[in-house]
Amino acid sequence: MPSKTISRRKFIHGLGLGVSACALPLPVLAGGPLPHGAMLLGARPQDAVLMDAKKGQVELRGKGLGKTDIWGYGGKVPGPILRVKQGEELKVRFNNSLDQGSTIHWHGIRIDNKMDGVAGLTQEAVSPGESFDYHFTVPDAGTYWYHPHNRTWEQMARGLYGLLIVEESEPIAVDHDLALAFDDWQMKPDGQLEEESFGRIGERAHGGRIGNMMTVNGNSDMQVDVKSGDRARVRICNTANARILELRVEGCAVHVVALDGQPVEPREPEALDLIISPSQRVDLILDMDGAPGGKAVISEVSDMRLPLVRFDLHPTEKSRSKLLPPFAKLADNPLLALDRVKPLEVKLDMTGGAMGGMSSAIYKGKELSVRELVREAGMIWAFNGVAGMPEKPWFSAKKGQTVEIEMINNTSFSHAMHMHGHHMSEVSRVRQTRAGLKTINTRPDWRDTVLVNRGEAVKVAFVADNPGKWMFHCHMLEHQAGGMSTWFEVA
Ligand code: C2O
Ligand code: CU
Repeated sequence: MPSKTISRRKFIHGLGLGVSACALPLPVLAGGPLPHGAMLLGARPQDAVLMDAKKGQVELRGKGLGKTDIWGYGGKVPGPILRVKQGEELKVRFNNSLDQGSTIHWHGIRIDNKMDGVAGLTQEAVSPGESFDYHFTVPDAGTYWYHPHNRTWEQMARGLYGLLIVEESEPIAVDHDLALAFDDWQMKPDGQLEEESFGRIGERAHGGRIGNMMTVNGNSDMQVDVKSGDRARVRICNTANARILELRVEGCAVHVVALDGQPVEPREPEALDLIISPSQRVDLILDMDGAPGGKAVISEVSDMRLPLVRFDLHPTEKSRSKLLPPFAKLADNPLLALDRVKPLEVKLDMTGGAMGGMSSAIYKGKELSVRELVREAGMIWAFNGVAGMPEKPWFSAKKGQTVEIEMINNTSFSHAMHMHGHHMSEVSRVRQTRAGLKTINTRPDWRDTVLVNRGEAVKVAFVADNPGKWMFHCHMLEHQAGGMSTWFEVA
């Protein structure tokens, strides 16, 4: 079958996802993590999706190996994979059935500020038993996700997250469209989450809470049936609190086609493309060029070599005699071009953490020694000398103005710097080495999260075209909670 005629029906066929009606005025999604990581929730324009954050139990370690207590949307890990068409409106009723306040943040969506879901900045946390209606249009096609923005370091680590797929207005011809959330979990031998480590200063001061077990869409080993000749779009999201994923894809032809939702010229992965920091996404096109009966594997190699997703090629059948022609670049999203002539220039000086040498920082308007910061507030990091959210914005930009941010990492750790409501493009990257300053090739792709390694100074630019109050923080959630959070304003 020529690829053009492959309908979306074909790849969602057989996933057994139900939409069940109930007494509420809203349809309830009976979705959740689906066996093969797949998906569809038809968020048709008029339907509101009910997302209930609640406790649940999931077999994270594998079938028959016992259940782990989690918190999840619909009590599942991950929450439903939401699919909506570019330019459409998504309506979600968020119901909080947890016993602490929560919100939903729509990561990477250039969203209406009121709907950004940041507790304490764009809304109050939704109290236990209460609900909140999110409704917004999605301007950009691509791979996005959602998670709480209140005690995120705990709530996300317990399983509250899900993927949000914005489909291109022209359907993309692929045989499989898989959305995969890669996560790690800090588990005890009894198979329960290690709750003692939530909020612990040791993790905050170092590289964050790194798990000892990995899952993809809540599965510890994931298998997908394909055929020789198939083309798969694989959307990968790093939903771990702090682990920087290093992926390896073997047994098929691989092209990177989007990063953080935004299209890039299709390319074979460069070294850095498959290093995915917390919250980043990468869209890959995999062409199954192996013979029938073979396999392709996605492994995570940051700790040890862990095969996490296995594609089994049908033992005898091929889907086509010849591989499809090269994948054409996805249509660009409507981002404004940068104006590099007279940008507003701002700096972000990152300090603190273990082996960081920070002696004091401002917290809630008062200068505290590091000892006091840790004891009184659990803080250990600072941006521009301020630990935690400042009362006044870091900077204010005029609507439409290009802003250049220079981030200087004066700490002993790498940080995944995330901007809300906008995408940014890297302008320069310099690394401090023993031999002096070294210029690193820049990667000008549009991103909502940029990894700034230790000893680096990275300049990014963005067009401040979205009015409101926007957070800027490290997406290593223990670092965010430990002080690496700030905000800016677009008037
Ligand atoms: Cu993924 Cu401030 O968020
Ligand atoms: Cu960090």
